[in-house]
Amino acid sequence: MSGISRRELLCSGAALSASSLLARSAWGRAASLLSGGAGAGSAEASAAVAPREQLLFDFGWKFQFGNGCDPARDLGFGNSQGDFAKTGEFEFAKGKFDDSKWRALNLPHDWAVELPFVHDEVQSSHGYKPVGRRYPETSVGWYRRAFEIPASDLGRRIWVEFDGAFRDVLIFVNGCFIGRNDNGYAPFRLDLTDFLNYGAKNYIVARVDASFGDGWFYEGAGIYRHVWLTKTDALHLGRWESTVRTAVKGGSAVLTLGTVVQNQGRQAESAGVSWRILDAAGKTVATAAAPAQSIGVDGAATFTATAELVNPALWSVDAPNLYAAVVTVEAGGKARDAERVSFGVRTVRFDAGQGLFLNGRPVKIQGTCNHQDHAGVGAAVPDRLQWFRLGVLKEMGCNAVRTSHNMPTPEWVEGCDRMGLMMMCETRQMSSSPEGLAQLETMVKRYRNSPSIFLWSIGNEEFTLQDSMAEQGGKIAATMVQRTHELDPTRVVSAAVNGTNETSLSDAFDIVGFNYRLELPDAFHKKYPKRPLFGSETASAVGTRGVYATDPLRNTMSAYDTHEGRWNGYETAEDWWTFYGSRDWEAGGFAWTGFDYRGEPSPYGWPSINSQFGIVDMCGFPKDTFFYYKAWWDKEPVLHLFPHWNFEGREGDEIPVWAYSNLDEVELLVNGKSAGSRKVPHLGHVEWKVKYEPGVIEARGSKNGKVVLTEKRETTGPTVAIRLTADRTEIDADGEDVAILKVEALDKDGRPVPTAGNLISFKVSGEGALIGVGNGDPNCQESDKEPRRSLFNGLAEVIVQATKDAGEIRIEAVKEGWEGAELTPAKLTITTKQVESRPVVG
Ligand code: GAL
Repeated sequence: MSGISRRELLCSGAALSASSLLARSAWGRAASLLSGGAGAGSAEASAAVAPREQLLFDFGWKFQFGNGCDPARDLGFGNSQGDFAKTGEFEFAKGKFDDSKWRALNLPHDWAVELPFVHDEVQSSHGYKPVGRRYPETSVGWYRRAFEIPASDLGRRIWVEFDGAFRDVLIFVNGCFIGRNDNGYAPFRLDLTDFLNYGAKNYIVARVDASFGDGWFYEGAGIYRHVWLTKTDALHLGRWESTVRTAVKGGSAVLTLGTVVQNQGRQAESAGVSWRILDAAGKTVATAAAPAQSIGVDGAATFTATAELVNPALWSVDAPNLYAAVVTVEAGGKARDAERVSFGVRTVRFDAGQGLFLNGRPVKIQGTCNHQDHAGVGAAVPDRLQWFRLGVLKEMGCNAVRTSHNMPTPEWVEGCDRMGLMMMCETRQMSSSPEGLAQLETMVKRYRNSPSIFLWSIGNEEFTLQDSMAEQGGKIAATMVQRTHELDPTRVVSAAVNGTNETSLSDAFDIVGFNYRLELPDAFHKKYPKRPLFGSETASAVGTRGVYATDPLRNTMSAYDTHEGRWNGYETAEDWWTFYGSRDWEAGGFAWTGFDYRGEPSPYGWPSINSQFGIVDMCGFPKDTFFYYKAWWDKEPVLHLFPHWNFEGREGDEIPVWAYSNLDEVELLVNGKSAGSRKVPHLGHVEWKVKYEPGVIEARGSKNGKVVLTEKRETTGPTVAIRLTADRTEIDADGEDVAILKVEALDKDGRPVPTAGNLISFKVSGEGALIGVGNGDPNCQESDKEPRRSLFNGLAEVIVQATKDAGEIRIEAVKEGWEGAELTPAKLTITTKQVESRPVVG
């Protein structure tokens, strides 16, 4: 294993053992998925292998708001017409500039989530945060950092790389303007080589302007993804040019390997490329080499080779086996640059008559669409939280995600590769303009080796291109599909279309996606039997966790999966899955949405501040429909009974009692007396009407005449205690890792109180800090950052992040302004362990 670093090993293996998938609760599943398997430490967006260096550039920044209107409050930027007149005159990006009063922070950072809510309907779809051209004081942020470059770096190429920032970014280094990026989702990098002081201090400044938006949902503001400083030899691999394409033949796989080498040095070079293929354990299982070529100054050359993997461990949703290719450029007798490319071996086939096949076996897309924000942290989601979110979805039986409606964060893709979720990867702008194509190209090149990605999407619901500009729409789509195929001939391309799919926009798609509109696919399939179909976006079912009445005065939507108050008349969970789950020719589909998200506070506006479309809430706490999906998507026996049984004051009222199950039959007992058995319809649910009286309802689920699962709901007493549990009680002391805590209200018998709304405050001490709180209430306008939160229907969430020093994080939950029962504070200790952190900029 000589020459392979621990980091390289961690990254190469990442399949998670099947036994780690067996934990029962959603919380447990997320935790066990994340703690099992190789590479489950900090995420590795970095694929650097020595001699390349890739340093995390997240720590130690200074931040201050600028101003979108007034240059005097924007570091004087825009004060004169000559801002960009001369190179090297931006004083704020030089050593003498005083940033001592700026706020110190680490990235990723989203300043929008820190702002108060404002009642301004123009901001509703962005979650009522004061960001945009109407709010110049809170829409521009400046980030500044000093950093050292050693004298020994002279001669190397040095780039700053942003995984994504929201939105318009101007970068300055040592007084010089270096470049800009004008979208919120695509990564970008800038070459700093000529502008640096070697063996001395350097200064980088980013002006981030969130005045414009890309989407109609919450998008955050600031540098909300990782930043890297990458150093290579002047002779180096091209960015995202290394590809590994796999073809399974009999018991082996042929790997077609390719890369591009660029020479930015001062002399021509004779360079060769070699590949080392590693299995999940880090063992070399194949090698390949391409002969040396001469590469002139400022020239580039393409290298290709093939290798064979005998008996490859295939990647699938049940066994996400990964391999890695270490690609090395050699010249002058030594390695000059190298990188690690993670990949998987699998086959994907969409069949117009029989749906989707993964490795030759039929599989339905049991998918969810998701935006990229979470409670407490907004768009600045720590890596571990990305994986937690995927764990929650996986627990439900979800096997695919759609990155609606933008290019995803690398750690979300990496999580899908490792945990076994397929991905429909979507670009933000449907356009064949230079900007639109550049975004598409970046997405495809960045992620084309990821085995989770089985489908590219060039856009969503472009009504104008579907209808009044259909002719242009057809050309734009054809150009985008063609470009995608050129960059990646191995995957199909589609888009999410809310319409007939019979206008020219859809002509170029390899497979056809329908958003909603269950009345359309049958007729389309009959008319075009050779075109494979799937549900690119389905349901849009709305529900408030733990609330069993639609009440426009309280902005709640009933958590029963009924048509009552349905948003836009769209489908219930049961409607869409009964449709897609019972047609062989449908490849499956993606429900809107897995998680609730900020913005689009449908169907109500203010004071709602987030959507209610999620199958789980903003924190990841399941709504009842989670168990509908789990019953029909997962393999385990499922029995879920609802609602809760705390309806004080409604004695004698008829309450609908539902059960989700995949067993044969469910019997309901009310205070010990049978209320009857019901056969569970395929892809359906069972229900009873019960006159409410306090006590206990119990469901008994049987299979082949035998009771295999039971579940109770009991009327609880008032809250007398708080319980804190964490997804993990030992995390890494790397300044990045987080523990996700569930806060519950308990009665005197230790039973969770499903209606509790007490305000709890949190004290965090030791080697960690609270970075966000939430409760999943779409109508809660409490701060995401203050150390206190009301419970919403018995639950809240706290996210704590480790420092870089090993030790303990102590969390205490105490009552705040809470009249009534005595309460013993709940305490929890998280251990943070010393780890080899990934390399950072000092
Ligand atoms: C869809 C759209 C989504 C979301 C959803 C709400 O039409 O693609 O982004 O807005 O409606 O129902």
